[in-house]
Amino acid sequence: MKKHFLVTAGPTHEPLDPVRYLTNRSSGKMGYALAGAAAHEGHRVTLISGPCNLDVPDGVDYLPVETAAEMYHAVSRYIGKAQVAIFAAAVADYRPVNVPEQKIKKTGDTLTLELVKNPDILGSAREVFGFKGTLVGFAAETENVISNARGKLQRKGCDFVVANDVSRKDIGFDSSENEVTLVYAEHEVTLPKEDKYQLSLDIIEKALEV
Ligand code: C5P
Repeated sequence: MKKHFLVTAGPTHEPLDPVRYLTNRSSGKMGYALAGAAAHEGHRVTLISGPCNLDVPDGVDYLPVETAAEMYHAVSRYIGKAQVAIFAAAVADYRPVNVPEQKIKKTGDTLTLELVKNPDILGSAREVFGFKGTLVGFAAETENVISNARGKLQRKGCDFVVANDVSRKDIGFDSSENEVTLVYAEHEVTLPKEDKYQLSLDIIEKALEV
């Protein structure tokens, strides 16, 4: 049966001043591959994406955003229409408290930034947005990959978490290949190393089995 997918992708940009921002290392490739694969399989797809240098896949409803706050509002508006939500965005955890209207000048030898926590978008899906569909999160870990991912699964109410070990140089980040483990509440499924499009088809299939 065809479903409506909501996918978040890419980094967010948190402005420091009119010319600078804080961000996360993310190409957006995984989220765009997921959105493209779901659309290619005939599903309806809403892609909510932070700034990326990627072509928007065919057949996808595309909603560009800049900041975590904008992504939060976009997800809160559109998640009610989806049956499957996959959160592949690398959202900045913090943003600057004050954003001056003018460029910050290099007057001192040190500069202290005060940051405030951004909303956890995935963590809001169940309790704040009331999402009842299939919820998939991502976990980029450098150690204790499975146990950290399972903690995330429980805290955020996911059906499964796609865990990848970002300490490995050959996969993840800018790479077009990835090797991940799907972490469920009671078990894990390790997928083979494959390109992000094939991996997307596997993740979509698993999401439709939940
Ligand atoms: O806790 P952590 O940020 O590592 O969790 C990663 C998962 O949570 C990813 O699926 C990411 O898209 C999502 N996330 C989010 N909003 C945030 C932070 C993370 O949706 N502010």
